[in-house]
Parts: sequence; structure tokens; C-alpha cells
Amino acid sequence: MKVHTYERAFMALGGVLLVLCMAALVYATVAMGIHLPGRAGEIEPGKVFTTPPFDNPGVHQTGPNQYDVVIIGQAWRFHPTEIRVPVGAELNFIATTFDVIHGFHIEGTRVNMMLIPGQISRLTYRFRKPGEYLIICHEYCGAGHHNMYGKIIVE
Ligand code: CUA
Repeated sequence: MKVHTYERAFMALGGVLLVLCMAALVYATVAMGIHLPGRAGEIEPGKVFTTPPFDNPGVHQTGPNQYDVVIIGQAWRFHPTEIRVPVGAELNFIATTFDVIHGFHIEGTRVNMMLIPGQISRLTYRFRKPGEYLIICHEYCGAGHHNMYGKIIVE
């Protein structure tokens, strides 16, 4: 069977595009450090409030300048709604939800996670400047979605 010249050219083009896409993906994940927040474990949605560390949401010191920040998302609020953290500290955000998919984004930062029932999301961040930061749910989660926000006070 003879393959037409144009057909051959398009097949080659397809191959080139595939390689470029793979290269862009590798560049984004490896070189730029962009990745999905780690799926750091699984949790039974019905037992979130009784499973450590989610049985005690909030800020917990784990080292000299290190804190776990445990958050639960729920329609339509975060637990806790307001947290205080020291400026410059290493914050390990550990979050989940038990009802529907929520977002966890801290305005003006790269902190951006998806909260999925049954999964634990983790992300580490350090605030360089003191101030008040808004936490918003940026995944549509129903009628009260726009009321789902919290506050981080960095001091
Ligand atoms: Cu929770 Cu939108």
C-alpha cells in the first residue's frame, strides 16, 4: 500500500506535536515545579472528624519553625474559619473534605489545592509578609459556594 505524501507529512506533524506536548509537560512538572498537590493519603469521608489529624483542625507546632495546618472543607465553610500563623514559618497544609469537592486557595499565593472527599491534600508554604490573607473555595460546591471563605492572619 502506498502512503500519500500529504498523509505522510501529517503523520510526521502529529509525531512532532506529540513530542512537543510531552516536552512541555516534562518542563512544567520538572523544571517549573508545577504539580498537582500531592495526594497524600486516603480517608473515609464519614470519619473525617474522628480521624487524626482532622479530629483536631487548626495550627499545630511540629518543630522549631514548623507547623501543621489542618483544615476541613465543608459546604460551606472551612474548619477552622480563621487561623493565625507566624511569618516565615514552614506551614504544612493538610486538608480534606467529606461532602463534595471544594477548593482551597489562599489569595495572592501559590497555595491552591483541590479538596476531594476520601483524599488528603498536602502542600507546604511559607508566608514572607505579615498580613491578612483570604482563603477561598474556588470549586463550585453549591448554593453557598460564594460564602465559603476563611482567613489567615500572618503575624
Ligand atoms: Cu466549597 Cu465552593
